[in-house]
Amino acid sequence: MNNKINQLQSGTPNAATNSEQRESESRQPGQASRLWGGRFEKSTDEMINEFQASINFDKRMYREDIEGSQAHAKMLAAQKIISDDDAEKICAGLQKILSDIDAGKFDFSVALEDIHMNVEKVLTDAIGEAGGRLHTARSRNDQVALDTHLYMRRQVREVQRLILNLQTELVKAAEKNRDVIFPGYTHLQRAQPILFAHHLLAYFSMLQRDFARFDGVYQRADLMPLGAGALAGTTFPIDRNFVARELNFGAIYSNSLDAVSDRDYLLEFLSAASILMVHLSRLSEEIILWCSREFSFIELDDAHCTGSSMMPQKKNPDVPELVRGKTGRVVGHLTALLMTVKALPLAYNKDLQEDKEGVFDALDTVKFSLAVFAQIVAGMKVRRENMRRAVEEDFSNATDVADYLVKKNLPFRQAHEVSGKLVHACIAHGIYLKDLTLEEFKEFSPLFDVDIFDAIKPETCVAARNSLGGTSYEQVDAQISAAKDWLTNHGNDN
Ligand code: ARG
Repeated sequence: MNNKINQLQSGTPNAATNSEQRESESRQPGQASRLWGGRFEKSTDEMINEFQASINFDKRMYREDIEGSQAHAKMLAAQKIISDDDAEKICAGLQKILSDIDAGKFDFSVALEDIHMNVEKVLTDAIGEAGGRLHTARSRNDQVALDTHLYMRRQVREVQRLILNLQTELVKAAEKNRDVIFPGYTHLQRAQPILFAHHLLAYFSMLQRDFARFDGVYQRADLMPLGAGALAGTTFPIDRNFVARELNFGAIYSNSLDAVSDRDYLLEFLSAASILMVHLSRLSEEIILWCSREFSFIELDDAHCTGSSMMPQKKNPDVPELVRGKTGRVVGHLTALLMTVKALPLAYNKDLQEDKEGVFDALDTVKFSLAVFAQIVAGMKVRRENMRRAVEEDFSNATDVADYLVKKNLPFRQAHEVSGKLVHACIAHGIYLKDLTLEEFKEFSPLFDVDIFDAIKPETCVAARNSLGGTSYEQVDAQISAAKDWLTNHGNDN
């Protein structure tokens, strides 16, 4: 029996020496020690390895990989699967690797494929046999899932912090410009006078929903996958609750196949990130328009703009343009991952390694965009006289003329008609509603009285829209104080 096994292990009685020879002939330096090399006769082709390696992007999860491995080692010891002594060596060795990587003193090797094997190999080289026991009851499939969950949990909180910062700047700008009136638009046509603060606070509300969406992403990232093994669980008496407690996870995946193949939390992240970018892109578009000579509603800080190499007069709003442009990139990453996961059979497939680059790029893009946007908003100068002129020299108070007549009991449809005719007459004479005399008003309806002039002043139009969530001073003040309370409740001083 023993003999048979010996034969099997070596293939043929002489194979041990033969395969050793082959190994030394075909394995490149540095590749001889693959952690999964036992089954192989040849080393991986260099180009193939470069193609399949993920170290160049998954190395950013080194902290999480080490944290996860330390928790795993402690659990293995607590369950008497490895000795306490081995667990201590592993944890200390990993701690040393962590500080080496932090200090830039760690050579990442493409030959070792990914962050998991880079860390494990260096650990084993440093502490010997104990290092070889770390991967007991674990697969890279549940390991990479764990790392990514830990990483996303941390990053989502960072994104949320940046959302709060931008919201804080929006509220500050709203307060500072609390009385500034400008035209609200529909179809990009001047529609009704509104408070500029009201407009800014609309973006606050969007970001509030974004924040909540990232809470959802956090919840789905807060699931502990380790212990799923490669796909089916493990033969060892592990304690998944121990690891979950150690890493502060809210819950544990209840199905091992799901644990290693779930990327919903990344899809949700990309989806939340896409929606957030779409919001920033809309504000970008408005800022770009407002900066144009045609609008001249705001001016960005010199420090936030660039010039033209040819046209000396130019001051370009590059930042909002770039944020608008980068939105396409983030939405692209969402589409890409949806396509990658679509039709993937259970459980782990290498396709899933494609999740990371897009997610990491989306993360960097969202974080950077939020940070620069907070600066843009903080530095933006409001040209209140130009905004005022855009309201005065137009007909955005025409609804108020109609509402005035309705309040004197004329049915709205008739009032609308009267106001429309007044606007038509004004356009024909090149004047605005405020330029009409009371007699002229009366020609269109006897219901007009001298109080019409007050009723169509921009301040009156704004103040009158006092319905809940409307643009009145009172409603905007309420929005500002609710926004500040919300920020305070979320830990942001404002
Ligand atoms: N680098 C891999 C990834 O990101 C780790 C898991 C590899 N698992 C495997 N069976 N090859 O998905």
